[in-house]
Amino acid sequence: MAEIALLQGKRIILGVCGSIAVYKAVDLASKLTQAGAQVDVIMTEAAQRFVRPLTFQAVSGRPVYTDMWRAENSGGLPSHIAHIGLAEGADLLMIAPATANTLAKLAGGFADDLLSVTALAAGCPLLVAPAMDGGMVEHPAVIDNLDALRRRGAHLIEPESGRLASGLTGGGRLPETSTLIGHIRRVLGLDGELSGHKLVVTAGGTREALDPVRYLSNRSSGKQGFAIAQAGIDAGADVILISAAEARPPLVGATRLAVDSAQSMMEAVLAQVADSSALIMAAAVADYRPRSVSEQKIKKADDSLTLPLERNPDILMAVKAQREKTGYPMIVVGFAAESENLVENASGKLQDKGLDLLVANDISASDAGFAVDTNRVVVLDMDGGLHKIELTSKAAIGAYIIERVGGLLA
Ligand code: PMT
Repeated sequence: MAEIALLQGKRIILGVCGSIAVYKAVDLASKLTQAGAQVDVIMTEAAQRFVRPLTFQAVSGRPVYTDMWRAENSGGLPSHIAHIGLAEGADLLMIAPATANTLAKLAGGFADDLLSVTALAAGCPLLVAPAMDGGMVEHPAVIDNLDALRRRGAHLIEPESGRLASGLTGGGRLPETSTLIGHIRRVLGLDGELSGHKLVVTAGGTREALDPVRYLSNRSSGKQGFAIAQAGIDAGADVILISAAEARPPLVGATRLAVDSAQSMMEAVLAQVADSSALIMAAAVADYRPRSVSEQKIKKADDSLTLPLERNPDILMAVKAQREKTGYPMIVVGFAAESENLVENASGKLQDKGLDLLVANDISASDAGFAVDTNRVVVLDMDGGLHKIELTSKAAIGAYIIERVGGLLA
């Protein structure tokens, strides 16, 4: 697991309850630690029947808290105030898996074990991931308890449907670690620099239909656009992700609008930017599309086939026209995928498309640009400023772009 800037130095209390899903909490504690968070685990008595505290201690590198009456569980504080010590200065209390019993205690304000008493003492956000079997999650008592927590400002993670430990199929599964971490990032980012700002990000390569089964497209995977969207969520933005990248997994915290052609992407972009703070166009939009779309599958006939193409609309030019009339979006960031004369070609696009920033993407090497996890760019601004970023992760480039957008909006 790579480090995550947002998690560096964050203190997360992970409350673990008795459920077979405890094995996923072990993975969560491990990945959060690898990502840079300090994870203090509190296990209920029932949780310890599934997994020993030593397991969490090994993956978090920290003591594990199990009993509010034992001195070794007090984190150096007098044992009777261990819960205060744990809660103090924590950035997040996450309870995963949260059983029906612990949910009832939280909703009722009970304080009969270290986890429930810490929940009462903690002033930080509370993120709860319920997991239970046999339809318990649909019981009115559980629903009422979840409603009570939601009303009090707790953040809830919807359990997933699928095969349960009992063999039954239904709701109540604890989501996978990547989804849980997505929710943690969303909650930790809420008060970030872009809080209150609507950010529109495009990702992926557009698909221009030829016939019912074929299309023209490009090698864009959507990785760079999704990394920017994630950085936006980390900064607290309300992110609209307009994606032509069908295959990419969901991004927790973003509203994803699926599009295919340049035309459909343009319609979505123009509608979304009307009240947005910033647009970041990382998508690789096809410049041309087939002049007509065959209703039937095109048959093999001659040795060669000529397809007449016509120009697609330029989305950034349409945004420029709309922005001149309405003032929105306030900031526009474009990309330019260039295989030669990187800065020269890119600065032409910065001017023509009326951009605030242009990310010139060097696609001359196989470790940058399309489909890989790393990238190499030069960021140009309207004042002639030029910032070169050597080979790094697309996540790091996303974070840099979001930082620049934050600076422009400030
Ligand atoms: O998705 P990945 O696999 O992670 O790859 C990332 C990427 C290489 C696709 C990305 O980093 C990138 O460089 N995106 C822009 C690719 C591109 O289409 O460049 P361009 O020079 O053709 O277009 C310039 C700008 O105009 C882009 O912001 C583009 O979105 C926009 N455009 C292009 C054509 C068009 N009809 N309308 C547009 O708005």
